[in-house]
Amino acid sequence: MTQRAILDDLRHDVAELEETGIVKVAVHGWGKPGLIPMWFGEGDQPTPAFICDAAAEAMRRGETFYTDQLGILPLRESLVRYTKRTFGVDVTTSEVALVTAGMSALYLAMDMLIEPGDEVIAVGPVWPNIYSTVEVHGGVVRHASIDLVDGEWMLDLDALFAMASERTKAIFVNSPGNPTGWMMESDEQRALMDFARARGIWVIADEVYHQLVFDRDVAPSFLQVARRDDRLLVVNSFSKSWLMTGWRMGWLTHPPELGPVIAKLVQITTSGVPAFLQRAAITALEDGDEVTKALRARCKIGRDLVFDRLESWPKLRLARPKAAFYAFFAVEGMTDSVAFAKKIIDDANVGLAPGSAFGPAGEGYLRLCFAASAETISRGLDALEPILGTGADQRRIA
Ligand SMILES: Cc1ncc(COP(=O)(O)O)c(C=O)c1O
Repeated sequence: MTQRAILDDLRHDVAELEETGIVKVAVHGWGKPGLIPMWFGEGDQPTPAFICDAAAEAMRRGETFYTDQLGILPLRESLVRYTKRTFGVDVTTSEVALVTAGMSALYLAMDMLIEPGDEVIAVGPVWPNIYSTVEVHGGVVRHASIDLVDGEWMLDLDALFAMASERTKAIFVNSPGNPTGWMMESDEQRALMDFARARGIWVIADEVYHQLVFDRDVAPSFLQVARRDDRLLVVNSFSKSWLMTGWRMGWLTHPPELGPVIAKLVQITTSGVPAFLQRAAITALEDGDEVTKALRARCKIGRDLVFDRLESWPKLRLARPKAAFYAFFAVEGMTDSVAFAKKIIDDANVGLAPGSAFGPAGEGYLRLCFAASAETISRGLDALEPILGTGADQRRIA
């Protein structure tokens, strides 16, 4: 049987899932000697030892058995305390579920909500996996775009509201946002929640970057403006705040009625997160504030290093973000960001993510992750300057 025939047997929405533009570019540069990787959304530091030790000790203690599908109770209690301490919001252990990272939380959310033909209004440019997660469930994404206006990313809420139809099942908001660093303020969150409540639409709030904020202690959360009975799912993650991308742990804050549903879905997919990893998660929540603080300070230095230089490059249009760890900038004349990002790998040996990966509003942009040491950032910028920092006509390269 040919490979073509084999693929024909698959569910068409799975077989037709496109590789994201980030991966297309990464494949082009993978393994290139000396390449400076600024394409993925993670820092360059390993998880602190005291968090690793908590997992190792739990493993040695014998915490190696099947676990509670929603997360062990001490961890859910820890999440309840964290939610109160961080956002000033009271939730119960019946409203939080530990899952296999933010990605799994997003997938579970769509598993619960999306039937073929349902529409999800997604505020973007945004991380491409969100679109794929809707589409693989047969849903349709409607793009509500945040635009760069007078040096700031802005969302036109009325335009978003006007997109809602009978078929709209959910509105997806990632704030602070990847790739833009856009942050939705509380009054906008309240207005969106009011709208969704009146129309019976779910809000899926992806708040995985809530700790990586530079102009205040923490980003506003939908939990702060929601009512107890609202149709709200908040996606969160240990990946970004505590340098734990490879651990694959995150959590969902959800209406209490959904706990047993989530438990069933977890049972037939991952069957839960290993108990010894959950012990490390408790340690991160209870003792990890300094990790988060240090990461935030490091990212702020990275952001300023990057923007102090990029802002003086005449072909770029950009806004210094208040949050997250990305520079997302428009390059004048660039029409194919995937081709351009590949060209940058060939000519400058720097890995950047193409803007088109982040939805239709992202074409014309590139994303650079600045969660790196000052030394790496400076080397990356030095290598990029001859291509991006000149007044040359970029069209030749695109
Ligand atoms: C906006 C957004 N949501 C969710 C995730 C998922 O993170 P993880 O699955 O590592 O928790 C990411 C990762 O880059 C992200 O950028």
